[in-house]
Amino acid sequence: ADINLQEIHDVLISIAKQAGEMITSAHPTTGAAGSKKNSVDLVTETDRAVETFISTTLRSKYPTYQFMGEETYQPGDTLASAPTFIVDPIDGTTNFVHSYPYVSISLGFSLDLVPTIGIVYNPFTSTLYSAIRGQGAYLNQTHKLPLKQPTPFTDGLSECLVAVEWGSDRSGNDFRVKSDVFRKLAATKESGGGMVHGLRSFGSAALNLCGVAEGGLDVYWEAGCWAWDVCAGWVVLKEAGGIMVDANPGNWEPRIEERRYLAVRAGEGQKRIVEEFWGLVEGRFEVG
Ligand code: IPD
Repeated sequence: ADINLQEIHDVLISIAKQAGEMITSAHPTTGAAGSKKNSVDLVTETDRAVETFISTTLRSKYPTYQFMGEETYQPGDTLASAPTFIVDPIDGTTNFVHSYPYVSISLGFSLDLVPTIGIVYNPFTSTLYSAIRGQGAYLNQTHKLPLKQPTPFTDGLSECLVAVEWGSDRSGNDFRVKSDVFRKLAATKESGGGMVHGLRSFGSAALNLCGVAEGGLDVYWEAGCWAWDVCAGWVVLKEAGGIMVDANPGNWEPRIEERRYLAVRAGEGQKRIVEEFWGLVEGRFEVG
């Protein structure tokens, strides 16, 4: 049957707005949060309630489509080429628990394993990013992304504002690879670093990707996040002219489930930024 992408896009926006009301009217405290794999991997009752609302609504409207959500994912679940909703009810749970207002509902839709629709909504700032593959990306459904004509990367990585995240893996090989790159990004060129303008973290992978799509952030690099953190933002990024490659050097075509990502905004020279970034990565991430 024909798939009406515009209709799904509109339904997802309406769900995101309703989920947003559930999130802004909840009052989480650090004490009310439980944790999953370790003490920094937080989950709240609101994450679960919002995912239940989203999955119930989508399953009743689209009973034949697949659903993958952060709170109901089981190890071993994999994406299929069937139409699939890929959902994070609260991306930025740590921010939510601390009342740091960078939280998003990340609603993605994939077809043949390609991110095809992306809705990312921050209910605290009423900021909505949306995109359908091949049809452009928008802020609040009115402003086309990127927000301004992208400037070329004339001086390379050293002129970039770079988003990174610690994530929740805080030991072992991957933690070391990350820490080393953070230091190298900041370090002077004389000491082998990239001397970037600055490092930033929204605390939400989806908002980082949308920040790169918008053009305020130039680059976002992370390993350890999941398909539901990135599927929606990926569509917004690509439709805004950005590119998404592997956080490990060498792979220009990552899968949705890669769990390692490097995003670069639109602009002449973006491939050179990837090469330069990869040149700073010592070792390789094992995740993914
Ligand atoms: C997390 C956020 C965070 C990123 C982690 C994600 P969650 O998602 O996107 O920015 O660093 O890798 O797991 O747990 O808040 O949904």
